[in-house]
Amino acid sequence: MPTIASQRRGADAVIGLESAMRVLILGGTTEARLLAERLAPRRDLAVTLSLAGRTHNPVPHPVPVRIGGFGGAEGLADHLAAERIDRLIDATHPYAAQMSENAARAAARANVPLLALRRAPWTAVDGDRWTEVADTPAAARALGPNPRRVFLALGRNEIAAFETAPQHSYLVRSVDPVEPPLAVPHATYIQARGPFREEDDRTLLAAHAIDTVVSKNSGGSAAYGKIAAARALGAQVILLRRPALPDVAAVERIDDAAAWLDHPPDHRPGHGPSSPVRGV
Ligand SMILES: NC(=O)c1ccc[n+]([C@@H]2O[C@H](COP(=O)([O-])OP(=O)(O)OC[C@H]3O[C@@H](n4cnc5c(N)ncnc54)[C@H](OP(=O)(O)O)[C@@H]3O)[C@@H](O)[C@H]2O)c1
Repeated sequence: MPTIASQRRGADAVIGLESAMRVLILGGTTEARLLAERLAPRRDLAVTLSLAGRTHNPVPHPVPVRIGGFGGAEGLADHLAAERIDRLIDATHPYAAQMSENAARAAARANVPLLALRRAPWTAVDGDRWTEVADTPAAARALGPNPRRVFLALGRNEIAAFETAPQHSYLVRSVDPVEPPLAVPHATYIQARGPFREEDDRTLLAAHAIDTVVSKNSGGSAAYGKIAAARALGAQVILLRRPALPDVAAVERIDDAAAWLDHPPDHRPGHGPSSPVRGV
């Protein structure tokens, strides 16, 4: 997998940034992009963002981007060493558990300080009708035998399990086209990229007479519209439970992740110098 390392070193030499702190952000989330935006103007940092390459046309980012897997924890550890990375920030999606596990193992192996930037999960409020399930096969079973009108707000690679429940009508929203389409008789596809507003999602769910939403518990505001819309319309929400993530230093706010770079790695502003940030 080609990286932008040589370009980076060239750019560093031109603007005299050989001494800049080298930061690798594992991204794919809105927070990763916002953190990159925050850090991009800083001349004391050389920031690179890494994407899995899941979407065909990722949104533009304000720092150099590398795309594609590293080859497991070992590959990432080699990358950290080869690119002389000083700090690693895991800002991947809360359901990207494999990548987070790899980041924890690689950081330990390469002795690179690691911080996770993790969104808190959504919590139910009055009026929510939530059912939590372990995975997509369990979500398909939870729909039950009677035909329902289901909004699948999942990645296009995560919906195959719903072919086992062809009695339902599905509305599928994804960034890239679902190819091949689901082998079910009733499915409608929409291509769209968040953030999604609550009122738009309410209009969408009402227009398709949706009675059930299947979603990850992503947290944050960009994907919350459908959850609020389901509540407003009295629809049930089947939520995929969050995967277990490694117990590493973690923060929820972009400000805190940016501030972490200005301090020794085991210190967070507002905490004692020997207080590590707690895992979340
Ligand atoms: N990744 C995203 O951008 C993203 C965005 C939104 C939602 N999600 C959700 O997260 C869940 C799992 O997604 P996933 O397959 O991407 O994660 P994953 O299962 O944790 O990762 C699988 C492999 O993808 C590569 N990878 C993941 N994130 C990477 C990154 N930022 N940079 C370079 N390589 C990366 C790694 O390959 P190697 O082992 O070869 O390094 C990793 O082992 C799904 O539910 C998905 O919808 C992911």
